[in-house]
Amino acid sequence: MKVGVVEKPGVLKIEEREEPKLIQKTDVLISVKRVGVCGSDIHIFHGKNPFAVYPRVWGHEFTGEVIAAGSSVTKVKTGDHVVVEPIISCGSCYACRQNRPNVCEKLQVMGVHIDGGCQEKFIAPESNVHLLPKELPWEEACLVEPFTIGAQAAYRGNIQPGDFVLVMGAGTIGLTVAQMAKLAGAIVMISDVVESKLNYAKERGADYIINAAKENVMEKVKEITGGTGANVTVDAVCNKKSFEDAILLTSTAGRVVELSFNEIPSEIAPVNIIKKEITVCGSRLQTHRFPVVVDAIQQGKLPLKGFVTKTYPFRDMIEAFDFVDKNNASVRKILISFE
Ligand SMILES: NC(=O)c1ccc[n+]([C@@H]2O[C@H](COP(=O)([O-])OP(=O)(O)OC[C@H]3O[C@@H](n4cnc5c(N)ncnc54)[C@H](O)[C@@H]3O)[C@@H](O)[C@H]2O)c1
Ligand SMILES: [Zn+2]
Ligand SMILES: [Zn+2]
Repeated sequence: MKVGVVEKPGVLKIEEREEPKLIQKTDVLISVKRVGVCGSDIHIFHGKNPFAVYPRVWGHEFTGEVIAAGSSVTKVKTGDHVVVEPIISCGSCYACRQNRPNVCEKLQVMGVHIDGGCQEKFIAPESNVHLLPKELPWEEACLVEPFTIGAQAAYRGNIQPGDFVLVMGAGTIGLTVAQMAKLAGAIVMISDVVESKLNYAKERGADYIINAAKENVMEKVKEITGGTGANVTVDAVCNKKSFEDAILLTSTAGRVVELSFNEIPSEIAPVNIIKKEITVCGSRLQTHRFPVVVDAIQQGKLPLKGFVTKTYPFRDMIEAFDFVDKNNASVRKILISFE
């Protein structure tokens, strides 16, 4: 079978490998249909992901059809459509015992620490597969994982109905946060520096758009919230300044959700956190958000149409990476198809 592998930083290849076989009773064999290309896959390609181990079959956003299942599997059967939850945790460390396997001490992410989904056939443990409705198009099924990132940010920020939520950045992740915040009943403000991204966010339900290149974000947020600031601010811009700004833009008793993997320190005066008693939290990957997103899709509450920019056949995988790399400003989601 064919796999897409980053052999070492800068070298992306299509390789022939032996097909995987069911070994454990809990194994599920999947014929992979679509794989999403994420910003972090591009980082792995460029050698900029500190967790990646090479050579690595890339892909943590993928969906497919079950073609065989081990003897003890009950959750899915042959012919079912599934999405794979790409994290493996130890189950016994402090984080796991706190029911937070996404930050397990021994966390392994498919496509990063271990081989991922860009392969024609993939074996996943039963606990990592989630059943999807068959009528859901593959293009939309493949968006479940990125939407779990938005769902996690909404969960970590404890977004409540009626909260004013500021999403900084209307990139792929910011959009998923905005949609999940709307689903939680919030009033959503979203900022970006690219007008077309803001217009798209508005089409997808954002209540207020703020062009940070043209408008004063602080004044605008104050104006919209009647002077109080955002009750929850989610940083999906992820640079030094965005974290600093997030603290200042947040209301008293508010929450700041930080998504950045940035290693450059931000300058934040503790008093700005203390005086408003802001809760600052990180949000990494997701915990138990797959069922939440799948359920929202099933109930027709999460419109996904138009989110995918383009789908490339697997043979053009290298071209797809190149496209994402060169068109970062206009790309929402690029998929690879194995059909
Ligand atoms: N914590 C996690 O689990 C997790 C998961 C996925 C991605 N991420 C991180 O989230 C970040 C966003 O990912 P993405 O794929 O959406 O990236 P992206 O590049 O598509 O989005 C960033 C957006 O910020 C906008 N922007 C730039 N400067 C701005 C400013 N001053 N004000 C407002 N908007 C501004 C850009 O125009 C762009 O639309 C990345 O840094 C990524 O590493 C974190
Ligand atoms: Zn991703
Ligand atoms: Zn653990």
